[in-house]
Amino acid sequence: MPAVAEGVYTPQEDSQLLIDVMEKSGLARQSRVADLCTGSGVIAIAAAQQGAAEVSAFDICPRATRYARQQVSLAGADVAVHVGSWARAAEFGPYDLVVSNPPYVPHDPSVEGLDMPATVGPSRAWDAGYDGRLVLDPLCASVKGLLARGGTMLLVQSEFAEPRRTLAALAACGLDAEIVAWQWIPFGPVLSARAQWLEDTGRLDPGRREEELVVIRADKA
Ligand SMILES: C[S@@+](CC[C@H](N)C(=O)[O-])C[C@H]1O[C@@H](n2cnc3c(N)ncnc32)[C@H](O)[C@@H]1O
Repeated sequence: MPAVAEGVYTPQEDSQLLIDVMEKSGLARQSRVADLCTGSGVIAIAAAQQGAAEVSAFDICPRATRYARQQVSLAGADVAVHVGSWARAAEFGPYDLVVSNPPYVPHDPSVEGLDMPATVGPSRAWDAGYDGRLVLDPLCASVKGLLARGGTMLLVQSEFAEPRRTLAALAACGLDAEIVAWQWIPFGPVLSARAQWLEDTGRLDPGRREEELVVIRADKA
């Protein structure tokens, strides 16, 4: 896949899986939507195209938000793109739908960053601490406060960031959470480079080089 822009995460299978689930669910239609960790804006723009009433998108990387604004304008979509942490979404909520494809790739914090092709974007787009949960944990703990009554979150992550911990964290906040979609994909360049470390730390069966992505849906009563 060609890089969207230097230093911006190029939408991958995870982005598309989330867009597909959002479309099938019909949840964006006439909803106030927040896209947390928007990158190129691809999911936010899809939400607008699926009939959202309002879309707000957030990314900590100014390069990404600049690019997302260009894409929003090219698509003729109505999306407000904000630079800053996903937590800024609290300023503009509540939302009927929160969508997110956050960084979730485990990495060994004692090892220097990887030298990756431009197509995969900067390491902050995917690196998420030893267990891959650096963004997932605080996001799960806060999302209930972002949602309107009856609102829903759709979140995509890898098996390597332990989806059952996401389910447990969301349930602990009183949200009704379940896995609603799965997809097996071959390792990309980042996981290929980390495969040996994942094997050594007991998180990957020797020789396996594919990962399962899941989409988690969490509903607020
Ligand atoms: C895996 S990329 C996903 C981008 C886009 N949603 C997609 O699916 O193509 C994750 C994005 O999260 C952003 N990010 C990382 N930490 C963040 C944080 N704390 N708050 C907001 N955005 C963050 C990165 O800059 C990156 O653009």
